[in-house]
Amino acid sequence: MKRPIAILGGTGPAGMGLALRWARAGETVIIGSRSVERAQEAAAGIRARVGATSSVAGEENAAACAASDLLVLTVPFEGQVALLKQLKPAFKPGSILIDATVPLASSVGGRASRTLGVWQGSAAQQAAELVPQGVTVVAAFQNCSADALNGDDPVECDVLVCSDDPNAMRQVIELAAKIPGVRAIDGGKLENARIVERITALLIGLNIRHKGHSGIRITGLPPSSYHGSE
Ligand SMILES: NC(=O)c1ccc[n+]([C@@H]2O[C@H](COP(=O)([O-])OP(=O)(O)OC[C@H]3O[C@@H](n4cnc5c(N)ncnc54)[C@H](OP(=O)(O)O)[C@@H]3O)[C@@H](O)[C@H]2O)c1
Repeated sequence: MKRPIAILGGTGPAGMGLALRWARAGETVIIGSRSVERAQEAAAGIRARVGATSSVAGEENAAACAASDLLVLTVPFEGQVALLKQLKPAFKPGSILIDATVPLASSVGGRASRTLGVWQGSAAQQAAELVPQGVTVVAAFQNCSADALNGDDPVECDVLVCSDDPNAMRQVIELAAKIPGVRAIDGGKLENARIVERITALLIGLNIRHKGHSGIRITGLPPSSYHGSE
C-alpha cells in the first residue's frame, strides 16, 4: 500500500481541500476527526468527487495518527494544544507533522484578520514543543485558501515550507507540488512560520475587503527554487 497521508482535524474546509487535491493526485488519504462517523462521511464525500479508484478513509484522530508517519494538522488554533497532547502516545517515531494552523484572534472571539501572539513564536513552533521527540514539525499551507483547494481550478498559491529538518522539508515540498497550481518553496527555518502565519490574517482581511479567495505568489527567485507549476 502507498504511504498514507493522515489529516488530523481533516473534516473542515482546509483538511478537506488538501484531502481532495491529494486524492486526485493518486495519494492514499486518511481523514481524522474527533468522531469516526464524521471522518467516514467526509471520506465518502471526497471519494464521490474523485471517483471509485480513489483511496480515502476516515478514522478517529488517534487511529489516523497511528496509521501514518506523514501527518497534517488542520484544526483551529484553540484546539491545537489539547489535540496534540491527546495524540502524544499515537505518534509513530520518525513521523513528519505538517502544521497548517494559524493563531487567528477569532480563536478567542477576536477578528480573523488579526493573529494572536504565541509564546513559542508561532503555532508551528508551539506544535514542535508538544510532539514527542523524534517527530518533526514542518509548517506549510497556511496561506492556501480552503475555497481554492476545494474547487476544481488550479490553486494559484505558492506554499512556503518552513522546517529545521532538510529531509522533512524535501518530502513536504514534494507533497505540496502535487497540488495543481501550487509552487512549493523552501521557506527556511521553522521559526519563519511566525511570519507566514501572519500573512494568512492579512489574506483573510483582503478576502473580506475584496470578496475573494486570495493567495500568495513569490517572484524573483531562480526557477530551481520553485517546485510544482503555476
Ligand atoms: N480555511 C482556510 O482557508 C485555511 C487556510 C489555511 C490554513 N487554515 C488553518 O487550518 C486550520 C483548519 O482550518 P479550517 O477552516 O478547516 O478549520 P475548522 O473548520 O474550524 O476546523 C477543522 C476541523 O477541526 C476539528 N476541530 C474543531 N475544533 C476542534 C477542537 N477544539 N479540538 C479538536 N478538533 C477540532 C473539527 O473536526 P471534527 O469536529 O470532525 O473533529 C473541524 O472540522 C486552522 O488552524 C486554520 O487557521 C485554514
